[in-house]
Amino acid sequence: MRICIAGAGYVGLTTAAALADFGHEVICVDMEESKIESLRQGKVPIYEPGLDELIKKNVKKNTLLFSSQVEESIRDYPIILIAVGTPSQEDGSSNLTFINQVVEVIASTTNVYKIIITKSTVPPGTNEWIHQTLVAKGINEDLFDVVSNPEFLREGLALWDLYHPNKIVFGTKTSRPIKELKKLYVRGKAPYIFTSLTGAELIKYASNAFLATKISFANEMARICDAYEVDYADIAKGLGTDPRIGRYFLNSGLGFGGSCLPKDLSSLKHSALRKKVETKLLDAVREVNDAQIELYLNKLMTELPDLTEKQITVWGVTFKPGTDDLRSSPAITLINKLIEKGCRVHTHDPMVQLELPGVHSHTDQYESVTDSDALIISTEWPQFLESDWSEVKSRMKGSIVLDARNCIDEKLVRRQGLVYLGVGKQ
Ligand code: UDX
Ligand code: UDX
Repeated sequence: MRICIAGAGYVGLTTAAALADFGHEVICVDMEESKIESLRQGKVPIYEPGLDELIKKNVKKNTLLFSSQVEESIRDYPIILIAVGTPSQEDGSSNLTFINQVVEVIASTTNVYKIIITKSTVPPGTNEWIHQTLVAKGINEDLFDVVSNPEFLREGLALWDLYHPNKIVFGTKTSRPIKELKKLYVRGKAPYIFTSLTGAELIKYASNAFLATKISFANEMARICDAYEVDYADIAKGLGTDPRIGRYFLNSGLGFGGSCLPKDLSSLKHSALRKKVETKLLDAVREVNDAQIELYLNKLMTELPDLTEKQITVWGVTFKPGTDDLRSSPAITLINKLIEKGCRVHTHDPMVQLELPGVHSHTDQYESVTDSDALIISTEWPQFLESDWSEVKSRMKGSIVLDARNCIDEKLVRRQGLVYLGVGKQ
C-alpha cells in the first residue's frame, strides 16, 4: 500500500518505520523542515529502542521517505495516516489545531478515493467531525472513508507493541474500507475490533483511563498497607494472580506521568462533561495521583523535618525507565517541590542530563550522592536496583534512602547501615 503519515513525532515515526518494514511504501511528512532534514540525514529526533536501525534499513530499501512537502504528499498518496500532536489545553481538553490543519489540506487535495486514518488520540466525536467537515467542503462521500485507528504504543516498547499488538482497533462509518485496512498491519494473533468512529476513540481513552485507575488503586492500597505495616508487594502478588485483575500496572510509587495517561484522563473528563456526565472515578484517579508527591515528601520529612539547605540526590528524571521523555514526569514535579523547600538538588539519570535551574546533574551515579543528606529513587531504572549500597553509604553525608518506586531491596540497603524509607514496604 502507498501510505502518507502526517506527523513525524513519537507515534508518526514509529508507525512509519514499522509499516515500511511490513512492506508498504511510506512517506512521512512534517511541517517542521528541520526535523525532516535531520531524518533525511538519518538522525532520528527521538529515542526509542530499535527505531534508528529500522528507519535506516527502510530508507535504504526506499520503502520509507521523509518530506516537508505536506500538500503534495497528501495529494499523491491514497492512504493518509494522521499522527500529529493533540496537546492538552488549560481546561484539559485536547488541542485539535494540528488535526484541523491536516483536514484542510486533505479537503483541498482530494480528487481520487482516499482512506483517512486517524492515529492521534482525539476526543470522542472528532472523526465524525472530520467526515462532516469534508462533506461540508464539497468532497463527495464516495471519494473518501474516515477511519479511527488508535495506537496503544508504550514508550520504550513502541516497536515491540507494533509487531506484537494485543488488538487492532478500527472505527469506520461503513464496511467499505475494511478490506484495505486488513492489509495494513502484520497482526500476529491480535484480534481485530471493528466498531464505530466514536467507539474506537473511546476504546483508546478507556484503555488509558483504566491503566491510570489501576495505578491509583495500587497507590491507595500501598498507603493502607503502610498504615498496617504490611508489604504492598505481597498484596500486588495476591491481586495479580487473579486473571480478572491481571498482574500488570500494579506498581505503586510516585504516580503516573508521560505524554499520554495524564493528558487522556483530562481529555476524557472534558469529553464527559461536555455531555453533562459526571466523572467521580476519573477525578479520584487524578486526585490520588497528584497527591503521591506530597506523600513521599512527607515520608522523607519524617527523617528530615527541615529540608532547608539539605542536599538531596534524585535518581531518575524521566517519566519512566527506558525512555528519554520528561513529559509530565513525576520526578520533575518532585524535584521542583524539593527546590521550593530550599533543598540543593543533585540528579543522575542514565538517559537524560537534566538542565533545570538550581539542579546539579551528574553523569556518574555515585558521584551524584557525594555529601548528600538523602537519596530518592524516583524512576525505577534497572541499574538502580543493582546499586553498590556500600559505595552509596561511603559517599553520602546522611544515610536516608527514599524508595519512591517501591523497587529497591530494603534488606541490601539496611545491611549497609542506610535508613530505608518506602510506602507500603516494611
Ligand atoms: C501524538 C499525540 O499527541 C498523542 O495524543 C497520541 O497518542 C500520539 O500522537 P506524539 O506522537 O508524541 O503524540 O506527538 P508529538 O511528539 O507532539 O508529534 C507530533 C508531530 O506532528 C510533531 O513532529 C509536529 O511537528 C507534527 N505536526 C503537528 C505536523 O507535522 N503537522 C501539523 O499540522 C501538526
Ligand atoms: C501509555 C500506555 O501504556 C500506552 O498503551 C498508550 O498508548 C500510551 O500511554 P506510556 O505513556 O508510554 O504508555 O507509559 P506507561 O508504560 O503506560 O507508563 C505510564 C506511567 O505510569 C509512567 O509514569 C509509569 O511510571 C507509571 N506506572 C506504570 C506506574 O506508576 N505503575 C505501574 O504499575 C505502571
